[in-house]
Amino acid sequence: MTVHIREMIVDDIPAVFHLGERLFTAEEVQNLHRTWDEYEVLTLFSTEREHCLVAEDEEETVVGFALGTTIEKRKSSWTYGYLLWLGVDPENQREGLAQRLFRQFKQRMAAAGARILMVDTQASNEEALEFFRKQGFDSQEKHVFLSLNIDDERRDLEDREAHRVGRQVGGRPRNGKR
Ligand SMILES: CC(C)(COP(=O)(O)OP(=O)(O)OC[C@H]1O[C@@H](n2cnc3c(N)ncnc32)[C@H](O)[C@@H]1OP(=O)(O)O)[C@@H](O)C(=O)NCCC(=O)NCCS
Repeated sequence: MTVHIREMIVDDIPAVFHLGERLFTAEEVQNLHRTWDEYEVLTLFSTEREHCLVAEDEEETVVGFALGTTIEKRKSSWTYGYLLWLGVDPENQREGLAQRLFRQFKQRMAAAGARILMVDTQASNEEALEFFRKQGFDSQEKHVFLSLNIDDERRDLEDREAHRVGRQVGGRPRNGKR
């Protein structure tokens, strides 16, 4: 099978999003699942198109993607490249596609002036960690991801807002005049 790597185009957005949905599942990678949505794809595509790549097979099916961004620090000449999302269709894994996507991503980042590339993933995502090590990422630092459930606060705010709107509607005379 021939697969080629190219810059993403607008028509790829649904395919990339749906492939990501299959890959970033709550069971496998909960943190990635939480932040993967259509806006993520849309935003990266509209702001960093040159750093959004897809792997496309002979039937023009998207079988992989790499999406990233550059980070420029104010008051510093350093530019970082950040590979945010990388995925390959399970049917096409271990065929070197992520490696090809990554190589092209790296070249584009170098052309954009990046000196350091960064990636992150869940500590339990062994396959991705193995992949990144193979690409030469060696200084691995532990980064703890915490989450806090603030649903009670959200519900309180909703209740207060509903109460406030109810009072306004209830307090307004029927003919709209005060
Ligand atoms: C991680 C991922 C992108 C790798 O894609 P891939 O196309 O299968 O990777 P490649 O074929 O280019 O692999 C290159 C090398 O990485 C390593 N590697 C890749 N997948 C591996 C796995 N499942 N187990 C161990 N090593 C692996 C191997 O060293 C491999 O070389 P080899 O096949 O010659 O041994 C793919 O498994 C995936 O989509 N996972 C789910 C999404 C995800 O977790 N993305 C990363 C975080 S955003």
